[in-house]
Amino acid sequence: MTDETTPPGKTPRESYTVLSESMMPDQLNHHGNVFGGVILALVDKCGGVVARRHARLPVVTVSIDRVEFNQPVYANDYVEAHGRIVRVGRTSMDVLVTVTAEQVETGVRRQTNRCMVTYVALDRLNGRPAPVPPLVLETDEDRRLHAIAERRTERRRAEARDDVDDW
Ligand SMILES: CC(C)(COP(=O)(O)OP(=O)(O)OC[C@H]1O[C@@H](n2cnc3c(N)ncnc32)[C@H](O)[C@@H]1OP(=O)(O)O)[C@@H](O)C(=O)NCCC(=O)NCCS
Repeated sequence: MTDETTPPGKTPRESYTVLSESMMPDQLNHHGNVFGGVILALVDKCGGVVARRHARLPVVTVSIDRVEFNQPVYANDYVEAHGRIVRVGRTSMDVLVTVTAEQVETGVRRQTNRCMVTYVALDRLNGRPAPVPPLVLETDEDRRLHAIAERRTERRRAEARDDVDDW
């Protein structure tokens, strides 16, 4: 029997999401490449769909971790964000989002960004953090990414403890 407070487990495959967008002239910066905020918005939208699919609840973004713009995205590129859930806590979900840009005429694809976004599921009635389904790790890649995300969470918690002393 399913306990109301502990939803049944779900795999990363069940919430995997691809969001894509063709870049337009109003999304460019002064150098004629795509503005970083446009890419960040795509990352957050994609990760948000993953988190909502996993939790089937409203979610909020609590952290976007280590955003690196490794390569420019050019005007006219076709951009895809791939979101995959890699770790859950009680109410939080870590989603790894990878962005690729494709030069449509040549088909050449480049990975331009990758970052971890953390969401918290909210209870529909009181807006407070709500429990999410456990993560069922199905493949070796699920287990590899989950182990990396666990180590990252440990580092984040240790840094948060250090910060308390600094302040
Ligand atoms: C999300 C929110 C409701 C959490 O409230 P809270 O009182 O901090 O709740 P808790 O302390 O119980 O933390 C809830 C979860 O969030 C996680 N969390 C909180 N801050 C975090 C951070 N900076 N990074 C990663 N996880 C974080 C906690 O570890 C906890 O996870 P767990 O339940 O899986 O163990 C509150 O911080 C909030 O409303 N933030 C604003 C969100 C928002 O508006 N986002 C839009 C961005 S512009």
